[in-house]
Amino acid sequence: MAYLDIDPAICEHLHDKNELDLMFEIAREGKIAMGIGEILSLYRLAKRTAHLPGAIAEVGVYRGGSAKMMGIASAQKKAIYLFDTFEGIPQATAGVDHVLVGQFANSLENVKNYLSEFSCFKFHPGVFPESAVFLNDSSETFSMVNLDTDIYSGTLSGLNFFYPRMDPHGVIVVHDYNSKSCPGVRKAVDEFAANIPETLIDLWSTQALICKSK
Ligand SMILES: C[S@@+](CC[C@H](N)C(=O)[O-])C[C@H]1O[C@@H](n2cnc3c(N)ncnc32)[C@H](O)[C@@H]1O
Repeated sequence: MAYLDIDPAICEHLHDKNELDLMFEIAREGKIAMGIGEILSLYRLAKRTAHLPGAIAEVGVYRGGSAKMMGIASAQKKAIYLFDTFEGIPQATAGVDHVLVGQFANSLENVKNYLSEFSCFKFHPGVFPESAVFLNDSSETFSMVNLDTDIYSGTLSGLNFFYPRMDPHGVIVVHDYNSKSCPGVRKAVDEFAANIPETLIDLWSTQALICKSK
């Protein structure tokens, strides 16, 4: 499922080759829909933000591989809220999204089994943001959020929901911002980023970042 998106020659120059071994180990499990370089970025960002006070969240869990990566990177020291229908893509905006309703279906039970050795995960099945209403009156903040819904509505609602809840210097990662197959993700991010002071940071692959200033 994961694909090799980094030049093997670059691997020779990495400061810590152990982390690359870990990326390949996760990729080999076949539970993650990201390239090796993207998994590595997610892992490093989760480590970099681990000292911040808030929790971690992911919208778009699928088989659980990216969630596992963040659990390992944060050494399970903080709660990780996982939001997914666990029945696949819930809706697609006509003329914008290319993915199909029901695509990426995978049962909650499968994901729970895969992540059973971890105690940091909180599962919230259902369509986001309705599945997150329990946080409306909560003071919970977030140090890192991974948005990976592949669609316009899920991305925009994720940004609207989490941006005001981010810790200062916390990071929102949006997967597929630079992906041809997910134009709705790019549209949502561009609309949102036009109205915030932070600079949108494109990584070299498909991910884009918003690092909350304050
Ligand atoms: C590409 S997959 C996620 C891949 C996963 N992060 C990984 O790296 O392996 C997209 C997921 O987003 C979920 N999804 C999309 N929109 C959603 C929404 N509004 N609420 C809940 N889940 C949603 C789908 O069910 C699907 O599992």
